[in-house]
Amino acid sequence: MRVVSGIQPTGNLHLGNYLGAIRNWVRMQDAAQQGTQCVFFIVDLHAISMPHDPAELRSGVRDMAAALVACGIDPERSILFNQAQVPAHAELQWLLNGTARMGWLNRMTQFKDKSGKNREGASVALFTYPILQAADVLLYQATHVPVGDDQKQHLELARDIAQKFNNDFCPEDAPIFTLPDPIMPPQAARIMSLRDGSAKMSKSDPSDMSRINLTDDADTIMKKVKKAKTDPEPLPETAKELEGRAEALNLVTIYSALAGKSADEVLKDFAGEGFGKFKPALGELMVETLSPISARYVELREDDEALDAILAKGALKARSLAAPTLSAAYQALGLSRG
Ligand code: AMP
Ligand code: TRP
Repeated sequence: MRVVSGIQPTGNLHLGNYLGAIRNWVRMQDAAQQGTQCVFFIVDLHAISMPHDPAELRSGVRDMAAALVACGIDPERSILFNQAQVPAHAELQWLLNGTARMGWLNRMTQFKDKSGKNREGASVALFTYPILQAADVLLYQATHVPVGDDQKQHLELARDIAQKFNNDFCPEDAPIFTLPDPIMPPQAARIMSLRDGSAKMSKSDPSDMSRINLTDDADTIMKKVKKAKTDPEPLPETAKELEGRAEALNLVTIYSALAGKSADEVLKDFAGEGFGKFKPALGELMVETLSPISARYVELREDDEALDAILAKGALKARSLAAPTLSAAYQALGLSRG
């Protein structure tokens, strides 16, 4: 089994990034049996597909590296690096460009969403983004790729590319690429804004009160939770009855994700209570989980050299893991490298 996944180098990380993405990686790593290799990378090459600021990209990669380690990714057990340090990703993408079809890419909904009305002005990289993502996973013979729901289509494309390449260029009994399976974590929480239960918690929300940052201290967390938008009703007995109460549902969802209980179990303890009782309990639970993470994050983030060394070490391992598959792909295509 080989677990492979990538994450965007976003800075200003918040509770949504932790509960929705990073924590799932940590869980996969910690559950991995002997012989299962986890390969996790920060997708800086993908990041240039959208308008970006180079200085922000550089610090975003370090922010994400620090956050991943602070949250529990162990660079000794998992291979952790940023894509740009492993040229094999870009190389394999080019090779796969020969296999991927225009029609396949034309169906990708993320390109449509991200390019919006300005399709002509979108970068070519945004269009070919899913081919780089396919290279990311095929390069390491990924068997399992933990991703959110929105990435399922890209994973299906990676399978199509792998299958066509194997068909077109490999003997039937010796395919080069493994077909990867997406794994959607069963309860990957989607965390909403503390100010608006219909908007995702996001680093781009102008109100800092809308999110819990990984760098917030205990007082700030308690204050934000106490000011979170709610309604005057008491908490019901079951999660089903929270329908139509988006803000209340969000707080219960966060509680249940942090406590490792179902929403119904959480409500058993709080049914009939108002938010005056629920919010302090939620705030304390958040502080309990996030304090050690943010202390570690701040410490790691102060030392660029140490972070860069972690990524460089991971990249070294990734390069050797990737080499045989990349060579085989060149060979299969009839490309001579001397
Ligand atoms: P982004 O910078 O928004 O691309 O987020 C990086 C990762 O965190 C992605 O895998 C997202 O799915 C995840 N993420 C971001 N915001 C949230 C949220 N509010 N709830 C759950 N997951 C999130
Ligand atoms: N496109 C993914 C996202 O936006 C990030 C990503 C890039 C990725 N390469 C990957 C995810 C390979 C899984 C595997 O979240």
